[in-house]
Amino acid sequence: MDKPIIALDFPNASEAEAFLKSFGKEPLALKIGMELFFSEGPEFVLKLKEAGHFIFLDLKLHDIPNTVKSAMRSLAKLGVDLVNVHAAGGKQMMMEALSGLKEGTLAGKSRPKLIAVTQLTSTSEQEMQQEQLIPVSLEDSVLHYSKLAEEAGLDGVVCSSFEAKRIKEQTSDAFLCVTPGIRLASDSKNDQKRVVTPKEARNLHASAIVVGRPITRAENPKVAYERVLKEWEI
Ligand code: C5P
Repeated sequence: MDKPIIALDFPNASEAEAFLKSFGKEPLALKIGMELFFSEGPEFVLKLKEAGHFIFLDLKLHDIPNTVKSAMRSLAKLGVDLVNVHAAGGKQMMMEALSGLKEGTLAGKSRPKLIAVTQLTSTSEQEMQQEQLIPVSLEDSVLHYSKLAEEAGLDGVVCSSFEAKRIKEQTSDAFLCVTPGIRLASDSKNDQKRVVTPKEARNLHASAIVVGRPITRAENPKVAYERVLKEWEI
């Protein structure tokens, strides 16, 4: 996962394709979330895979273990590279998710990597304590879920760059910390609260970065992407 992952946050395929046009045939790493997947379905994912892109299918599954296992079997058949679940679904659910991915992986392909969402960055510590009745700090909950994901055999978590170092210390160096909340020094923060530059993310031990608006809403997306790539690769 050397390339910055571009969050393809568009409502439909035609807008996503218009954006991708400026990159020509360059293979990219793309994150497809619920908005685009629910409007365009698996066909669009297959089309992007055929074009040679790395695909992170960000659907954040959370259901009973058996249902998640079957869903993951279907997603693996699409040949995507990275998928995720909510760690709150529990260790058994995460283990079954992994097992579904293994079963669905096509012959000759590698299993999609599986990462967990710990606590959503939109959840405050107060909300977590009062609504979910989790009586620890947000950081401790994130670390706990990360360790649980590792015990279940997952490949990593989605987290803030600020959490990556501690998560890796408590799991392993190879445990993936995929981090959104990335901005170039010149960018607006939008609705992200704590942001870092690609270079800072690298220094904070992020394994991969997810970048949306700084590239997708840039006047020249290709130039913005090259800037992010250059900083991230150092
Ligand atoms: O536009 P921006 O760079 O803020 O986009 C970041 C992407 O990462 C979005 O698709 C957003 O949903 C996602 N994301 C996030 N924070 C998380 C998990 C996912 O910003 N904790």
